[in-house]
Amino acid sequence: MLQFDRVSVSQPACGMNLGATDPIACRQLYTGKDRKDSYCAMVSTQSFGVESGLKYLSESQQALQTRSPNQELLPLTASVNSSDRLEIGGCEVTALVEQFGSPLYILDEETLRAACTQYRDAFKRYYPGESQVLYASKAWSCLAVCAIAASEGLGIDVVSAGEIYTALQAGVSPDKIYFHGNNKSREELRLAVESGCITVADNWRDLETLAELGESGVSSLTGGPTRVMVRFTPGIECHTHEYIQTGQIDSKFGFDPNSLDRVFTFISQQPSLFCVGVHAHIGSQIFELQPHDDLAEVIIQALTKAQSYGLPATEINIGGGLGIRYTEADDPPSIEDWARTICSAVVAACERQQLPLPKLLCEPGRSLVGTACVTAYTVGSQKVIPGMRTYLAVDGGMSDNPRPITYQSVYRVLAAGKMSAPLTQTVTIAGKHCESGDVLIKDAKLPECHAGDVLAVPATGAYNYSMASNYNRVPRPAAVLVRNGEVNTIIQRETYQDLLRLDRLPERLGAPK
Ligand SMILES: Cc1ncc(COP(=O)(O)O)c(C=O)c1O
Repeated sequence: MLQFDRVSVSQPACGMNLGATDPIACRQLYTGKDRKDSYCAMVSTQSFGVESGLKYLSESQQALQTRSPNQELLPLTASVNSSDRLEIGGCEVTALVEQFGSPLYILDEETLRAACTQYRDAFKRYYPGESQVLYASKAWSCLAVCAIAASEGLGIDVVSAGEIYTALQAGVSPDKIYFHGNNKSREELRLAVESGCITVADNWRDLETLAELGESGVSSLTGGPTRVMVRFTPGIECHTHEYIQTGQIDSKFGFDPNSLDRVFTFISQQPSLFCVGVHAHIGSQIFELQPHDDLAEVIIQALTKAQSYGLPATEINIGGGLGIRYTEADDPPSIEDWARTICSAVVAACERQQLPLPKLLCEPGRSLVGTACVTAYTVGSQKVIPGMRTYLAVDGGMSDNPRPITYQSVYRVLAAGKMSAPLTQTVTIAGKHCESGDVLIKDAKLPECHAGDVLAVPATGAYNYSMASNYNRVPRPAAVLVRNGEVNTIIQRETYQDLLRLDRLPERLGAPK
């Protein structure tokens, strides 16, 4: 039961009057299994100076589909039911853990689809030319996520043969698959060419290998030339974590802009290569709009240059990079604002250069899938260091979320089974791995928690599963897709047999004969 003595209920949002009005810090509280039939109330979580996990629910009064997912901490469908438990997509998080075990990635289909739709529709609304949104599948490459993105009309950006294979198997049309990477193998390039994907040439080796493949008769099995885009470093720096800055000149990605004349000359001399356009990406988890404004000018100049060499280049790809909310301190622009900025900057740059509008592509990853997923863990051991720190250990860690240890990323955590309980303790959420740095969240605010309690970490859809490992031979978690109270497994939990699938024990080391 919800403990209304600790939270005061205010103005009903859906026609039920549940109590006194408290205008301070209201959160939407949904109860009931089915959102359509559920009643909702406005609940103040700040009453009596007591904070609870309810504070993480959205404050937005906007309809679900119009809220920009990247500006939310929890998936759009997050709600709390009458048992005070967190629900995502109409499914109770604690019940999902009972059924599927933990750690568990819980992916909210509605949030992912809303982000895809908002990107697609915003580009259609603000760009008078042709546009195409791609999903940067490095954020989370699996069949279900690629299939959902494709069903919303998105193409897919891939960076390896494995990601190409996944996108193709998910049913994505190869002419909407763009193949990136700073060190593509000949075999990967051949796969991209034969399947009819577009290759984003990152360096001379890519171009030379593609030209050689063309000369030796390798071409798309569906007919048509080898389509390439040219990636260059635009020289725009962003205030983001240095490991994920890719737009500065000192970057392993893309051609030096000063070499573009030679690049376009080379391509113009290759009969098998068809240059569709130019690409640049300036970084990730970016909250500023200005760099994208600047990028439009630089990229249109590069396109003009390509055309001046007689290349049939009519596409530009401005990359991804829009940030998401990991904590309340994060305040990224909305998908709509990002798209509007880019579209108007491209239109203005084209007017200045007197260039017909190119086809405009972008390739967000994090802002499409990041907010859609919550990772659920079960609390295990606890270590109290008096006067210093309390560690609560969970059954996952750096193997399912390597971002804290890699990028010092900060997350929030909720007790999924007692959402309105006061946040009375400050604890450090430790992973189970044999690494002192395997800490998921420092100084997390939680209610009293014990072994067996389920914790939910929001904003874990991007670069979590895709960067997961088997460190310490821990099987990778399962992932489930939730929608309207229905749940489907999209990635099975790894088994110990899976861990040994590729191991071979030579006979002389004791293998059974
Ligand atoms: C070339 C390229 N495109 C797109 C992306 C996706 O970026 P984000 O997930 O920040 O949108 C990345 C990520 O690093 C990238 O390197």
